[in-house]
Amino acid sequence: MKAGKTTHFVIRKARPEDFSQLMELETGSFSCERLSPRRMHHWLEAPNGILLVAVAADATRHVLGYCLAFTRSDSTVARAYSLAISPAARGKGLGRLLMEGMAKASKRKGCTAVRLEVAKNNTIAITLYEKLNYSTYMSLPEYYEDGQDAWRMQKPLN
Ligand SMILES: CC(C)(COP(=O)(O)OP(=O)(O)OC[C@H]1O[C@@H](n2cnc3c(N)ncnc32)[C@H](O)[C@@H]1OP(=O)(O)O)[C@@H](O)C(=O)NCCC(=O)NCCS
Repeated sequence: MKAGKTTHFVIRKARPEDFSQLMELETGSFSCERLSPRRMHHWLEAPNGILLVAVAADATRHVLGYCLAFTRSDSTVARAYSLAISPAARGKGLGRLLMEGMAKASKRKGCTAVRLEVAKNNTIAITLYEKLNYSTYMSLPEYYEDGQDAWRMQKPLN
């Protein structure tokens, strides 16, 4: 696959050997609410997890970004939990493709919608989600550990 802008990469399911690079992405992208190593290990194995990576298509096979969602047996709404692209790979369409891949995987698991939360000051992510047809339907004051407010957004999987 070729991203709309320049970098060649592939989107695939995350594998156990991606763990170290996933943790590097996590610590480089978020100052709070980070996934712990234990939780990352969990989501690499969990049957209800959807953990996708964007990997450089060159010999380095470097992990450039990831998206994590999960499903629950008592709900048809998948929860998109995290999305991060390495700073050097941003703006090349990887975030969009990972979110699209995650939505398709959620639909294959029988989900009818995807829900997510995003900090109100994260205008880049909000713009991306709006372009992918997510709609804001709830305000969540002081949702994050650092006191940031969030929007809850949802998209139907028609
Ligand atoms: C938010 C994030 C995942 C976007 O990933 P990305 O791969 O850079 O995004 P894409 O290249 O797929 O861009 C998709 C859309 O996002 C918006 N966007 C991306 N970068 C942007 C920028 N620097 N300024 C403004 N809008 C931007 C654009 O609307 C873009 O659509 P376009 O290509 O049609 O213009 C990435 O910036 C990131 O990892 N940020 C840090 C972690 C984070 O905030 N994660 C989200 C938590 S909810």
